[in-house]
Amino acid sequence: MNRLEKIYEGKAKILYACEDPDLVIQYFKDEATAFDGKKKGIIHEKGVLNNRISSRIFKHLEERGIKTHFVEMLNDREMLVKKLRIIPIEVVVRNIAAGSLAKRMGVEEGASLKDTVLEFYYKSDPLGDPMINEYHVKAFNIARPEELREMEAAALKVNKFLSDFFDERGIILVDFKLEFGVHGGKLLLGDEITPDGCRLWDKTTMEKMDKDRFRRDLGKIEEAYQEVLRKVMQ
Ligand code: TMP
Ligand code: ASP
Repeated sequence: MNRLEKIYEGKAKILYACEDPDLVIQYFKDEATAFDGKKKGIIHEKGVLNNRISSRIFKHLEERGIKTHFVEMLNDREMLVKKLRIIPIEVVVRNIAAGSLAKRMGVEEGASLKDTVLEFYYKSDPLGDPMINEYHVKAFNIARPEELREMEAAALKVNKFLSDFFDERGIILVDFKLEFGVHGGKLLLGDEITPDGCRLWDKTTMEKMDKDRFRRDLGKIEEAYQEVLRKVMQ
């Protein structure tokens, strides 16, 4: 499958058309951004690492009955995926308080939660992805109520499967972000699942193995992503 014209360029990926109108090629870049693009950098070989990590995770989820856009990994930086009409909602699932949740609720990062927290953010770069709830989704017609329920149920299932998957590999899945889209009338998990959009902590050392190393200038970013790849391939 060959790359045709560019359809869309995001902060970490580019989408290209290909010969099949139902499919697109997702190209993973090395560029990294944080804080709504205010912080910019390059993580050497991130595109290659994230393509491999995400392919492995999508395959794992598909094997457990989660419908995703993943078709196959084409080469180092390209993944063949089903073309989606993206629903402009970022679904964040949290198992441990960290990042913006710890800040908003005034608790220490790492504080345990009595139950999983699920949050919705409106995907809009100019607005800085504001947090929304199901009332906003309905009132602003961002998604159909049934779609939102389906996304919620899928996100909780993904959390269960991935928490176990990472736990078996010595990693705590602290939180992560998912995006969904519609293809042929069906809701599919889209985007990527990589250390760019997940918080992953080493179970024994509690060392951060994700994009927080870049956001917070902790160093050893490439090494952390490589270690995640090594572990997800086990
Ligand atoms: P947060 O604590 O900054 O709200 O992030 C929660 C999780 O969502 C974390 O794993 C990183 C991920 N995330 C993204 O993938 N994209 C984003 O734009 C934001 C804000 C968070
Ligand atoms: N991906 C977002 C950005 O580029 C936020 C983040 O991951 O911190 O700003």
